[in-house]
Amino acid sequence: MFDSGLGGLTVVRELMAAMGGEDIVYLGDSARVPYGIKSLETVRRFALSDAAYLMRFSPKLLVVACNTASAAAIDVLQERIDVDVVDVIGPSAAAAVGRTDRPIGVIATEATISSGAYQRTIERLAPGREVLVAACPLLVPIVEEGRGEDDPIVLHVLSDYLHRLQRARPGAMILGCTHYPLLSGAIGKLMGPDVPLINSGQAAAEEVHRRLVDTHLQSPRSAGGTLRCFTTDNPRRFALLAERFGGRKIDDVMFVGTDELECITEPTT
Ligand code: DGL
Repeated sequence: MFDSGLGGLTVVRELMAAMGGEDIVYLGDSARVPYGIKSLETVRRFALSDAAYLMRFSPKLLVVACNTASAAAIDVLQERIDVDVVDVIGPSAAAAVGRTDRPIGVIATEATISSGAYQRTIERLAPGREVLVAACPLLVPIVEEGRGEDDPIVLHVLSDYLHRLQRARPGAMILGCTHYPLLSGAIGKLMGPDVPLINSGQAAAEEVHRRLVDTHLQSPRSAGGTLRCFTTDNPRRFALLAERFGGRKIDDVMFVGTDELECITEPTT
């Protein structure tokens, strides 16, 4: 699994809750975070190098645990990587479409929204369905800074981003960024109880489970899976903040330089 940094640990958390026996290798590209304000070309290049690095571990499946990387690179990853690749956008869009016949709201980073990936995926699954989007660029730094859900700054920023969606009352709303589940209480309060929130990590975990079962590749264990983390920046800081995102203490964090990642131009299989 890989992500631009710590956020993908919210996906790891869901995956470990659903499939406790799987061994996970996670790469957080903290040296190059955030992906969400970069060009799709740059994010695609980063995603390819992240994926190529992880192929060294001969995974049975690769999870793109980042919405922005999914938006920018899922097609090229599926084309070039020789194992099944699961992203977070397809499963979240499918979960939302399955949940409501009404318009679907999506909040995500600037790059994810402007890529049109959620809009296209929902259109493919439910032609003609209205998709209401809002880019929320301040939420990633706010969450990384550790601001809580009842912090007045968080509530102020959320109200500003969500007011149009609040009025439109979508039938479901996708939290299309790894960081947003940490604010789901506050987002849920603002949107109201009749707008179910789709956690993209949870949707991706369900898809991973389905694919592993379908291909008979799931671990025979139901518990005792391991988690090994790599970061392209400071492992101590990663370990310190990891619990907030992953919901567990994570001590096994190793450093890998981006120069080591970038020297791999083509993903190996
Ligand atoms: N992981 C990113 C996402 O889900 C958010 C953080 C970033 O901008 O890199 O879109």
